[in-house]
Amino acid sequence: MAASAVLAATEQLTYRKGGWQQLHLLLTSIKEGFKEGHREADQPQGPAPQAEKGPSLRYYNWEKEIAPWVQQGELLGEGGCGKVYKGCLDGHDVAIKVVTPKGTGPEHLTHLHNAAQSSLQEFNNVVRLQQDSDLFARLLGITHHPDGTLCMVSERANLGALEDIPKELYPHEGLLLFSQYAHGVARMHELRTLHGDLKPDNLLLHRKSDGSLIGRIADLGLAQILLPGSSSGLDQGGTPDFMAPELELTGLTCEVDVYAFGITMGVLFSGMDPVEVDEAAKVASGPKVRVAKRRKVMSEVEDRVHAKFKEVLVGAPVVGSLVNLVFECSHRLPGKRPAAAQVAARLEKIAGSRTVGG
Ligand SMILES: Nc1ncnc2c1ncn2[C@@H]1O[C@H](COP(=O)(O)OP(=O)(O)OP(=O)(O)O)[C@@H](O)[C@H]1O
Ligand SMILES: [Mg+2]
Repeated sequence: MAASAVLAATEQLTYRKGGWQQLHLLLTSIKEGFKEGHREADQPQGPAPQAEKGPSLRYYNWEKEIAPWVQQGELLGEGGCGKVYKGCLDGHDVAIKVVTPKGTGPEHLTHLHNAAQSSLQEFNNVVRLQQDSDLFARLLGITHHPDGTLCMVSERANLGALEDIPKELYPHEGLLLFSQYAHGVARMHELRTLHGDLKPDNLLLHRKSDGSLIGRIADLGLAQILLPGSSSGLDQGGTPDFMAPELELTGLTCEVDVYAFGITMGVLFSGMDPVEVDEAAKVASGPKVRVAKRRKVMSEVEDRVHAKFKEVLVGAPVVGSLVNLVFECSHRLPGKRPAAAQVAARLEKIAGSRTVGG
């Protein structure tokens, strides 16, 4: 089944109010669709599918193909409601994302329901971005867990998440790598898709066989597609250290993504821990806080972020223009932040500058 057909199917269903029934309907239709024109799991293994733009997706057999890797239990990562396992399927190194809701009894069912809905939403977001597969973790196929939740299989980035910028890349190639991620964010925004959880854990790094490095954006679990005239809800989750101060007033916006990207750059280029803005951000979002007070707290957040960056970045082998870019991206006022496409262009310019490293 072509990615566009899957997208059409999911869009039809996910924008209506739905529950288990719709999820099962969708999974069944996708499964049937995948069967057409695609090799079944128990047929002899042929050559690995071509890794090229606009790939077809496979429906994997849980018992035969996925469960053995889950039982082996080699974890690539673990998040709020799921685990990502290492696997190898059809000659591809893969990452298998499995939803594992917590709790027992009625609580468990609620978690399971929420997890099922969010994995479906993530799938919808991922499919939408497959045509730019160099910029995003490539989806190879899906299956569903015996409990009914959707489980995605994607190409594994062999260097994992970007925990720090490898020393040998510092700073020139590191800047170019970041411009790749910024291009990915810009492409999402162009497609009216907002990421909502940009941070080092969700930026993957892959070394190709020719030695070149590619950066891919992952984890679209909190991403939102904004239809014309719509806006994201105000209860958008995220990771506190990377959340823009205005998030709970405005909901998810392009500027909120740029803020998180700015903090991510600051954290990775400086080697510091994420700025502890949680407390201040909590005060800022309190229901009884008046606008003036909120502004004051936001400006305090900005000062703290900037003070930290200044402290760590001064003397580091990065040029002032990178510091300025980080500051602008994490500016308290959303309107002062550059668009993601500008961030990409400026990173390329800084990387091309002769003063880098000097
Ligand atoms: N394709 C991949 N290749 C290599 N590592 C991956 C891949 N996908 C995920 N990982 C690893 O697993 C971790 C968790 O994956 P991901 O961010 O998708 O899930 P999560 O944070 O658990 O999701 P959620 O926030 O939706 O609960 C990543 O930070 C990364 O280290
Ligand atoms: Mg994640």
